This record gives sequence, structure tokens and C-alpha cells, in this order.
Amino acid sequence: MEEVIKIEGGVRLNGTVRISGSKNSTVALIPAAVLGTEKVTIYGVPQISDVEALIELLEELGVKVTRVDEETLVIDPSEMMDVPLLGDAVQKLRASYYFMGALLGKYGKCMIKSPGGCYLGPRPIDLHIKGFEALGAKISYPGDCTLLQAPKDGLKGARIFLDISSVGATINIMMAAVYAKGRTIIDNAAREPEIIDIATLLNKMGARIHGMGTSTLVIDGVEELKGCVHEIIPDRIEAATYILIAAAMADDMKITNVIPQHLEAITSKLEEIGINLTREGDTIHVFGNEPDKLLKPTDITTKAYPGFATDVQQPFTALLTKTDGCSSVTEQIYVERFKHCAELNQMGANTFVKGATAYISGPTPLHGASVTATDLRCGAALVIAGLMADGVTEIHEIKHIDRGYDKLVEKLTALGARIRREVI
Ligand code: EPU
Repeated sequence: MEEVIKIEGGVRLNGTVRISGSKNSTVALIPAAVLGTEKVTIYGVPQISDVEALIELLEELGVKVTRVDEETLVIDPSEMMDVPLLGDAVQKLRASYYFMGALLGKYGKCMIKSPGGCYLGPRPIDLHIKGFEALGAKISYPGDCTLLQAPKDGLKGARIFLDISSVGATINIMMAAVYAKGRTIIDNAAREPEIIDIATLLNKMGARIHGMGTSTLVIDGVEELKGCVHEIIPDRIEAATYILIAAAMADDMKITNVIPQHLEAITSKLEEIGINLTREGDTIHVFGNEPDKLLKPTDITTKAYPGFATDVQQPFTALLTKTDGCSSVTEQIYVERFKHCAELNQMGANTFVKGATAYISGPTPLHGASVTATDLRCGAALVIAGLMADGVTEIHEIKHIDRGYDKLVEKLTALGARIRREVI
């Protein structure tokens, strides 16, 4: 017995879709919320399985979690325990590694199983480790675990240069450094909006972090952190996914609760290939794109923010099958993130991958097929392709989609899509 998503494609979409809180913020905000001793209330929490896995981890730590409503979590660490994280939930998501920084910061030690997550090619955490070591931590690997230990007199601020501006390493080091004595400077820090979101939460709790959104983050250690109330920023990758869905299939669609500046690399690329859209306050409006309009081919290269996000190249590839000519997508972040191409080819696309570049020849009409979501954003690409395709598409391994898309079937149904979950 397996649950799949079935899509009857070819139906035009219309209406308004509201974007949920950012997954990649949420998965760091939840571990960050335990750094203090008081309640943290977080609004805009998406209903995704990564959040469920993080709540399991919080419960292992004795943290009380209350769901006030669908989108609001209250995290109460007042009775939290200093225990190792050895349960299966650690391996359900990659972001469980944020407990390394949070627990090392809070207790001066952390013992945790190796994290899981989507396979996108090699995903080392050497920069996180390098940062913890620079703060004075000793790292060892007993069994399949990682043990991080601060010296007896605690972590000390340090100057850390990240060889790659890694999102995860920036957030993890920032969390470890909030209680370190003195000043920590992270050079070549990542500038993604999610980092600003985590630093904003920590500052509301009493941390002293400056420079967020720039490539130099300065963290002055403090002695205590308190509770606060925080609203998560909108998910720019979910927003991009719906904008792509609109570009592919909508007569008139509004995507609301977005920060258009976070999406400039994507929306300007869409305009370049011929998609008509406007930015109005917190809304992107996609309209006036005739079903048979041929789009112009383009070349995309993924980059760290504010460049073209790697998480969007996979769903964008589905739309590129509609372009008239040869497009290319070059990965600079995860050079093996191309498993979606073989799946799209099963639906009639004409793509081939050479090195870290996918070439897409269009236009190719797509047809329904049985395909597999090999990872989260491959899943998004297949949903877009399924909506565009003639006939029924059956998507397997939807657990990957459930990790990151809040109420996907419900949101698309409300827009007029014929999509359902089915146990086969
Ligand atoms: N890297 C290293 N060493 C490290 C850390 C990273 O070599 O210690 C390399 C990675 O292999 C990669 C590059 O640096 O080539 C950037 O990785 P980064 O650390 O920025 O990625 P991440 O923090 O693991 C987050 C998102 C990903 C998103 C990337 C890039 C979360 C939970 N995940 O991952 O999101 O693709 O940043 O923007 O925030 C997704 O949402 O589908 C997803 C995979």
C-alpha cells in the first residue's frame, strides 16, 4: 500500500493562493527557540512533515510544544533536559543538525545521530564543524553519532571565515555563538532571508546579532535569552513554485503573502522568457498568458541569494519544456541536483544532463506518466509537469513533497486543479 498523488492535467487554473511560512526558516527557528528558558510563540508555521519531525525531537528533549491553532506553535523549554538526540526523528530531516548549534550553545555539549534529508549529491557539514571548533568545541564521532563539547569555561567568540557562504553553517554557528564569551564574526556569511529571520528571532530573545543580510555577521555573546513572539517570513520557494504553476497553467492567478524582493531572480527570469506578471504589495499577479503562447528559451545558473535559488531550478525546468528552443540550467550549489530530468523525460520532455548542466529542448508537449519524486523540489517539478500534461500523472514517494509543501493538494484544488491523494 502506497499513497500517491494523481493529477489530471490540462486544466486551466484561476484564483488566489496564500503562501505559508518559510520551511527553511521554520526548521531553524524551532531549534533556535529552545536556546532560552521561556516560552517562544511562533506564528505562520507550515503544516509539513519536517515540522512534525522537529516536534518529536523537542519532545525527546522534554520541551513542551502546544499547537494553539493550525499555524501557531508555543515552544516552552522551561523543563528542557540535557539529553542526547539518538531517536529516529533525527534522520527524518537534514535540519536536525541545527540542534548541534542550539544544544552546544545552551548546554556546552550535544550528542546527536547523523542527520538525514533529501539526497542532492554530497552535502558535507565540514563548515559547521569548522565554526564550532573555532569557538573552542571539541568534536568526536562515537558510533554513528556526532559529539560536540565546549571547554569547561565555555565557548569563546572567534573570527570565522566560511569558504562557501553556507546557509546551514551560518545559522548553526550563529546559534552556538549567542552565549559564547566575547564577539564572534562570521565572514562570507550567507545572506539568505531565512538567516535574517533566525537572527531576528534570536535578537527578540535577547541575543546581540548585527549585520544580518550582509556577508559579515557579528554576534556579541550574552548571558541569558528570554521568550518572545515571532512571525515567520513567507516561503519564497513555495511562492516561486506557485508562480511557476501560474506561468504554466493559469489564466489569472494571484499569489499572496509573498515578499516580491525575495523573488526578483525568479520573476525577472520569468519576464525574460515572456511571462506576464505584476508585483502588487505582498502579491504577485500572473495573468494574460495564453495557453499556446510559446516562451523564449533561457539560461539559468543557480547562485546563493540574491541569485537564482537552487531550490527553484527543478520546478523551473518543468516550465522550460514549453520554451521554443534550447534552454540550460547550470547548478553551482548542488552539482548533482538533476534527478528530476529523467522523470520529466518519462512525461515527454527532452532533457539531457552533462556535468552540472541540464539542457532542455522545447517545446515538448507533456503526457501523464507514473513518476517518482526523488526529492522535495523534484516533487514540485513533477506536480507542475503533471498539471501541464495531457492525461493522468501518478507521483510516487510523495513523502518528499509532504516534507516541504503545506496543504499542496488543497491549495491546488481551490485553484481548480484536478489533483488528489490516493492509496494504491
Ligand atoms: N557546503 C559545504 N560544507 C558545509 C556546508 C555546505 O561544502 O559544511 C556546501 C554544500 O554542499 C552546497 C553549498 O555549500 O554545495 C551550499 O549549502 P548550504 O549549506 O547553503 O545548504 P543547506 O544549509 O544544507 C539550505 C536549504 C536547502 C537549500 C540550500 C541552498 C535548509 C534546511 N535547506 O541547505 O533547501 O537548497 O540551503 O540554498 O535551509 C530545499 O528546501 O529543498 C533545500 C534543499
